[in-house]
Amino acid sequence: MNAHASAPPEGLEGVVAARTVLSEVDGQAGRLIIRGRSLDDLAGTTRFEDLVSLLFEGFFEDLPTDLTAALGAARAEVFAEVTHLDADLAAHEPVEAVRALMARLADGDDLATALRLIAAPAVFTPAVIRIQAGQRPVAPGPALPHAADILRMLTGVAPGAAQIAGLDAYLVTVSDHGLNASTFAARVVASTRAGLTSAVLAGISALKGPLHGGAPGPVIEMLDGIGSPDNARAWIEAALARGERLMGFGHRIYRVRDPRADALKGPVRALAASGGGGAGRVAFAEAVEAAALDILKTHKPDRPLDTNVEFYTALLLEALDFPPSAFTCVFAMGRVAGWLAHAREQLAGGRLVRPQSVYVGPEPRKAA
Ligand code: ACO
Repeated sequence: MNAHASAPPEGLEGVVAARTVLSEVDGQAGRLIIRGRSLDDLAGTTRFEDLVSLLFEGFFEDLPTDLTAALGAARAEVFAEVTHLDADLAAHEPVEAVRALMARLADGDDLATALRLIAAPAVFTPAVIRIQAGQRPVAPGPALPHAADILRMLTGVAPGAAQIAGLDAYLVTVSDHGLNASTFAARVVASTRAGLTSAVLAGISALKGPLHGGAPGPVIEMLDGIGSPDNARAWIEAALARGERLMGFGHRIYRVRDPRADALKGPVRALAASGGGGAGRVAFAEAVEAAALDILKTHKPDRPLDTNVEFYTALLLEALDFPPSAFTCVFAMGRVAGWLAHAREQLAGGRLVRPQSVYVGPEPRKAA
């Protein structure tokens, strides 16, 4: 082994891979800032299109103040691609089918390309869900606000105010989060000047994994496996004894509770109060959360493991009638705004991302 195998060379520890004005994740304080605004102020008060404007400001020319109409037109435009959702593609996991349809969009660096990319997961996800359920896709309503139209395309009926507010709060909450794995992937591809579509496809591919955006579906499996509050401790202890991780807990950066979990808890309760999901489901999930946090403290005393965004994401998206198999696609509907803003920020800086690797293999053999 090379002499450097155990430690990175001087100067490579904790390398900063990007400077950004877009968001800051404070893992010690449990605080998220998005473009100078605290998540606590944004979630529950801001529509998704206004959050997109906030993220895009200064990164695109001719940005309208209100993106509602432009996003509506983009949804109508990308809906044409749904005709390419054949039986083979519809048999894939929803995130793979959505990614394949998104790959049909032309690459480019302009605002029109960016708006099509925001519209794409919003339109393709309901279409894939409906086709998988044997139903016909519902065409977008271009005059509607983004979140309202997504829910209408999903269920075929006009959503209520609590549903629209819940989805807006979710999309805003997950729109950007520092240099997470999918955003890093998007920035790397953007830095090669491959185009925004390529950058977003890299982002969605990274998001799909269960250690990143693929966790909320398994949260539902965990809740269904536990079944009742009385069974929570035994189920969790058995899962940890098998060496499994509890989905919806732990984070690379947060050493305290993920602030996004609380940003979603309010909308989850509001939805339950309005009839979606049911108050019993929320109370049950809170009992599971309390048992999990208690057990994780003794399971990993040296590693603070707290609730992350995915736990309440699962409850929120379930209450909005998204099937767990498509939760990652809904995450992509929000995070695509962050990927695009980061891609444009990377392009503005102009440098190719080229991290240094640390060679830990053998030295070349001397010729005999
Ligand atoms: N349940 C049980 N044990 C855990 C959990 C968990 N959820 N998370 C971490 N640990 C344990 C690990 O097994 C490890 O133990 P070890 O040292 O004995 O091997 C220790 O804590 C440290 O774990 P790491 O993998 O080093 O922590 P890392 O920072 O890489 O992981 C991650 C962060 C991937 C989120 C992890 O906590 C996890 O797998 N959580 C479950 C999946 C999940 O909820 N993902 C969504 C994250 S939020 C997002 O991406 C939007």
